Amino acid sequence: MNVPNAIAFVNRDDVAIGYVTAAGSDIVLRVEYSEAGAVTVGAASAFNIAAGQNPQGIVVRHRTGNAAAYVANLISRDLSVLSFRDQRALGQVVSTAQPTNPASAEFKAWKGKRFFNTGTGIWSKEGWGSCQACHPMGLTDNVTWSFAAGPRQTISLDGQFASDDPSDMRALNWTAIFDETADFELNTRGVSGGSGALRDDVGRWPAPRARRRSSPSSWPRTAPPVRTTRPSTAR
Ligand code: HEC
Repeated sequence: MNVPNAIAFVNRDDVAIGYVTAAGSDIVLRVEYSEAGAVTVGAASAFNIAAGQNPQGIVVRHRTGNAAAYVANLISRDLSVLSFRDQRALGQVVSTAQPTNPASAEFKAWKGKRFFNTGTGIWSKEGWGSCQACHPMGLTDNVTWSFAAGPRQTISLDGQFASDDPSDMRALNWTAIFDETADFELNTRGVSGGSGALRDDVGRWPAPRARRRSSPSSWPRTAPPVRTTRPSTAR
């Protein structure tokens, strides 16, 4: 479950049932809390419910017999209508039309946002990671990660360009080793374990091998456990 971001509860007295949206996984997960404190995840008929792309929020429709929920999806630009009884989406209601011209700037920005936000498919192994997981809303999780180059606190992406001059861009990373956002694609494979955007004639780009000393990359091959060192103590 990647980037859980909203929860709504079913109106019942005997047990507390919540439905959680996961923005990076395109799913809704059922979570049941018993009075004794036990937590059960998933329903007997379905472990999770597929929503649209990048679900952001969920609202439960309380109704006897056939309670349901509406889920707002940022990238697919629609609303999923879920049935709790069936544990699946019954349909989608279109909100805004999706861009259709691959050559347009709007389409490219939309695709880029999809890549940034999702951990599905080629973008991570088993939904483990996504850009937004560390850069929520393009900002920073304030976590100091233990990367191969050393402890590194996530940098907010809102300082990449001068606010009064889009041609004035900073050198990227704490050590100023990158000069464009595309350089961070390696993160898809190195940190999140996905196969990533790069392809050649023989198929998938291989996962990076152990880092050479001369490599400018600061990305580790696998992400270590999260260390939540407070910023003030990370030097
Ligand atoms: C595991 C957490 C994590 C993930 C996932 C992650 N980042 Fe980052 N990001 C960081 C950290 C930590 C830094 C600072 C690294 C350094 O200075 O060596 C950073 C720095 C950056 C910067 C430099 C910003 C600046 O102004 O210097 C960019 C751009 C960036 N990330 C984009 C991305 C993109 C695009 C993705 C997805 C492909 C991504 N990040 C995924 C943690 C993450």
